[in-house]
Amino acid sequence: MSKARPSADVRVRIDELRRLVEEADRAYYQKGEAPLTDQEYDRFRDELVALEEAHPELAAEDSPTRRVGYAPEAAFAEVVHTEPMLSLEKVNEPERFAAWAAGLDEDGTGAPPPLTVEPKIDGVAVELVYRDGALAVGSTRGDGTKGEDITANLRTVKSIPAKLRGAGVPALLEVRGECFLTKDDFEEMNRAFAAAGEDRKANPRNFAAGSLKQKDAAETAKRPLRFTAYGLGACEWGARPPRSWSEARERLAALGVPVVEDALFTQSADAAGAQSGIAELLRRRDDLPFEIDGAVVKVDPFDAQRRLGTRSRTPRWAIAYKFPPREGRSVVRAIEVSVGRTGKLTPVAVVEPCPVGGITITNASLHNRMELARLDVRIGDTVRIMRAGDVIPQVVEVQKDLRPRGAEPFAWPTTCPACGGGVESPPDEPLSFCTNLACPAQIEARLIHFAQRTAMDIEGLGEKLVAKLVAERGVTTPADLFRLRAEDLESLDRMGETSAANLVARIDASKSRPLPRLLFALGIRQVGLSTARDLAMKFGTLERLRAATRDDLLAVPDVGGIVADAILAFFAEPRNRAVLDGLLAAGVAPPAEEAAATEGPFVGKTIVFTGELVALTRDGAKELAVKLGAKAAGSVSKKTDLVVAGPGAGSKLEKARELGVKVVDEEEFLRMAGVKP
Ligand code: IVH
Repeated sequence: MSKARPSADVRVRIDELRRLVEEADRAYYQKGEAPLTDQEYDRFRDELVALEEAHPELAAEDSPTRRVGYAPEAAFAEVVHTEPMLSLEKVNEPERFAAWAAGLDEDGTGAPPPLTVEPKIDGVAVELVYRDGALAVGSTRGDGTKGEDITANLRTVKSIPAKLRGAGVPALLEVRGECFLTKDDFEEMNRAFAAAGEDRKANPRNFAAGSLKQKDAAETAKRPLRFTAYGLGACEWGARPPRSWSEARERLAALGVPVVEDALFTQSADAAGAQSGIAELLRRRDDLPFEIDGAVVKVDPFDAQRRLGTRSRTPRWAIAYKFPPREGRSVVRAIEVSVGRTGKLTPVAVVEPCPVGGITITNASLHNRMELARLDVRIGDTVRIMRAGDVIPQVVEVQKDLRPRGAEPFAWPTTCPACGGGVESPPDEPLSFCTNLACPAQIEARLIHFAQRTAMDIEGLGEKLVAKLVAERGVTTPADLFRLRAEDLESLDRMGETSAANLVARIDASKSRPLPRLLFALGIRQVGLSTARDLAMKFGTLERLRAATRDDLLAVPDVGGIVADAILAFFAEPRNRAVLDGLLAAGVAPPAEEAAATEGPFVGKTIVFTGELVALTRDGAKELAVKLGAKAAGSVSKKTDLVVAGPGAGSKLEKARELGVKVVDEEEFLRMAGVKP
């Protein structure tokens, strides 16, 4: 049977895909720009690979699928990598990962090699060549075989040592790794750019790529780039070469080369252990200081790596497990301006539903009036959206070339969209405020904040009901909530007798919420839940906090001038005092806080909780620890005194064992705390 000749359509599509991928590669590898999102790029490239496989007669030597990157730009000298810099095969489902892991034992010896798991840092791949301990050449990956000589730029990166340190410096060390920016540094740089009237960069990776391509190293030096090693090229270690990646990683660290920290590195894992390492990284993704786009699993022993070998572009001994992308692209349907509990006006782009970072989003923040003006977002625009960490998705760029004809610039409201009141928009300030204190949007937002789960936890008092209470029952402050009777609620539509009674009971029950929650619920500017806890611990009662002086406030840990002034301003405002009096008169009475213990086994100790807890919630456990005079920390270090580990504990437990930190289970902790006999 002869194979059908490819239709003209297939040829056209292949040409089109080659052009798209080619252009994206060139922009990315030469200019550090990204005209396509990662998903778009992967989709086009995957489609191209599939078509080329289905139609081998249309294969072409110069197809972008035959290269790893893109040939270097003429501006930089060429560097030929001693060993090619490979890319990684990608999976994004446990099943496909399991299939890869199962294939590692192809010769069927029944002894699959140990694996390592580490973050896939979302930055730019570079190679550093050290000769006799001195940095000789630094280069980009380029097309995998040849890269660009960016030595001068890489010398400005603080975490890249100019000289290796310690004993046993190898005669030749080619180390590969990722150059990147932390999320914080990226945000700060972007703020500075925006302030200088320049374009914000879409994401830390583009920023890093652009920074490394500067013609003037002095410019690169201004960018807070970092480096973390993830592999080796050619090396001459002398007598005792490392035998595995995990060993090499330790040797690199000893030489002063930055490597991924222990807590994020899993070693000696089997396939199941690697899966939980991957899951742990995905869980911690939002808390990490840098962006990761997945986890990389590697066969640890170098001899096993050599046995498994490589394909044309990718090794068989490593795989990237990709996490859901943090970036998407969508079309703006509307621009809405909402009013928060402080009266602040916040613009939001309502977009066609699109997936970003594992969830479908329909709204993306535009931050404030100035950011909206700078981006020049218009209805109908195609925008790039990014969700970094657990923050609200934000519009980072407008695709101006795709703007529909006739799209008008957005006109910033001159009256409050919620109440029609005045709007204050100081010309040099990015923020705008509604000046009407009685604005229903502010009232509603304050009440919703008051009732939310982490504050007074009044279940059932959500957005819709609050809006009705404000509009139809004249509720304007939290104190009014406690005056509501079941009869007042019953007649609100769709609320029956039982639900009305239940709601009144729940409002009533909230009267005895602990002081930190009440303080947080009040919505004092600058006072989050954790500051509220510190304040409650220090002052014990609302009355004492109300009477506190600036100096009293400054004596609280983590309270500085700005927070202290915000608290003083809150209590100085007569309307707020009236609300507080109303709350106390209605019977709101948080139990007096006990001051932290000054003696006992936990005083001054740093405790880390990890894994599942059964008797306590994580927050409850931390609160108990703080009450007993301890500090609850998030990660294990030399300063940790005690780790309380429950089922499912992972890298923190491992780290504790490594450092010889005392580990107990929840029961033992409760016994030590005197809660359990
Ligand atoms: S290993 C032969 N490990 O991902 C193995 N790569 O798609 C080469 N990357 O070019 C790569 N973090 O730029 C490896 N921990 C990590 C990584 C990592 C980020 C990047 C690197 C590489 C690309 C592969």
